[in-house]
Amino acid sequence: MTWYKNAVFYELYPRAFADGNGDGWGDFGGLLEHLDYLQWLGVDCVWLTPFFPSPLKDDGYDISSFYGIHPQYGTLEEFRLVVDEIHERGMKVIPDLVMNHTSEEHPWFRMARRSRESRLRDFYVWSDTPDRYAGTRVIFCDTLDSNWSLDPVSGQYYWHRFFASQPDLNYDSPRVQQAMLDIIKYWLDLGVDGFRVDAVPYLFEREGTTCENLPETHAYLKRIRRYIDETFPGRVLLAEANQWPKDTLPYFGDGDEFHMGFHFPLMPRLYMALARQDNASIIDILNQTPDIPACCQWGSFLRNHDELTLEMVTPEDREFMWNFYAPERDQRLNMGIRRRLAPLMGNDRRKIALMYSMLYTLPGTPVLYYGDEIGMGDNLALPDRNGVRTPMQWDASLNAGFSSCAPDALYSPVIDDPVYGYRQVNVQAQRADPASLLNQIRHLTHTFKRLPALSEGRLDWLADAPANSLCFWRASEDQRLFVLHNLSDAPVSIPTAHLGLWAARNELTGQRVEIGATLVLPPFGFLWLSPLGS
Ligand code: GLC
Repeated sequence: MTWYKNAVFYELYPRAFADGNGDGWGDFGGLLEHLDYLQWLGVDCVWLTPFFPSPLKDDGYDISSFYGIHPQYGTLEEFRLVVDEIHERGMKVIPDLVMNHTSEEHPWFRMARRSRESRLRDFYVWSDTPDRYAGTRVIFCDTLDSNWSLDPVSGQYYWHRFFASQPDLNYDSPRVQQAMLDIIKYWLDLGVDGFRVDAVPYLFEREGTTCENLPETHAYLKRIRRYIDETFPGRVLLAEANQWPKDTLPYFGDGDEFHMGFHFPLMPRLYMALARQDNASIIDILNQTPDIPACCQWGSFLRNHDELTLEMVTPEDREFMWNFYAPERDQRLNMGIRRRLAPLMGNDRRKIALMYSMLYTLPGTPVLYYGDEIGMGDNLALPDRNGVRTPMQWDASLNAGFSSCAPDALYSPVIDDPVYGYRQVNVQAQRADPASLLNQIRHLTHTFKRLPALSEGRLDWLADAPANSLCFWRASEDQRLFVLHNLSDAPVSIPTAHLGLWAARNELTGQRVEIGATLVLPPFGFLWLSPLGS
């Protein structure tokens, strides 16, 4: 039942992954052709970003019908086939569930805004003035200065935590609560294995609060969980709650709310540790991370479809991160950085692999982002977050093997620069090369999956490890692993004399390692060791 605790998730944009019908947009037909790839890579669960009818003003996170498929992606029949074929390969699939808001084009909003007496008026949050809930931050702060917009039709303001084209649903309405449960039932009936639940902290609003993480929100989320446990046991709920660990903790409840929650604060600290060649930020945040119920699991990640968010760091650390990783204004967005992993690492293979090693060996179920496993680049000429959502690079042929359409019909240009372009960086070439990044990530993935201590084990720091290393033990009931990382660009020597450890098995190479008074790691090197007969 807790399959998600020892698993590898993979996030993909159906629009960006593969185009099956040659119209320039990724679709379910294309995805079907590449499921074998995901299985080969070692993926256990595919997270699909929204594929529902939508005017696509926020790339599908603005839903105009919860009960259909955007025609560009295919039909409901094809979706069923995707679910079946994913299951056929022993994998699971979770779509995004966008609960907090709809598109302004959703029939509910169209009806609600018609007049103040509309029968659906209470599906959304209205006000005569834009002053209510003044303690609430604006998330898309580069484009918005208020969470209220005036609706000229009915003359009142409506509430939105994201773009004005995404009015927030009013969860104080019992009808909204029921409508969302019906939507959940509909997709679970179709066989999906759960949901990545979008923007969960913002469901309710209360005056005098930040309108985030409110008790009412938790109560409703628990109701959803109860419903799922009773009707669809074994399905998983993964929370997107971009919060500090202590505020994320309640989303696990007593094991009766979310099964999983992303660890947002850990992510930027992995980058920070590498930039500063200092482990303090990682150790500090994990020491602050409370224990979660045994049936729950963190979701960890390096990048996703959004900007690399710096909301969960101090203002000084944010400045440092921006200066280090996004020196150009154009590389920044809202409170984050709109770049992909490989460019952030200066395309240094050692650093990219090191980041993956930390992702796999620190607590949490790793959630990979499509394209990062081959080291795809980004396109800063595209607006908003689109630069990290470009077509997957399958091979060196026209359109990166993503689509057979004319290049100008692509939903987005493929990356075509000399370093990250599809002629150099693609799945086909890397699959054929045993030394490629892709094969290395695949190897890490499969090794991770056979080492239960990495998903379930407790974490203990190696107390006297140098600050420019990250060394720790992971120990589950029947497995102990000693994991070492060199965060620096020079060799680092780790004191091991006092460990009582004379020999170990290198889990990544299968070789025996003799351990003396120290272990020396090359620049940005890492080791996953299991002790031998000490
Ligand atoms: C989440 C999504 C993001 C979207 C927002 C509004 O944060 O990850 O892409 O824009 O919600 O739905």
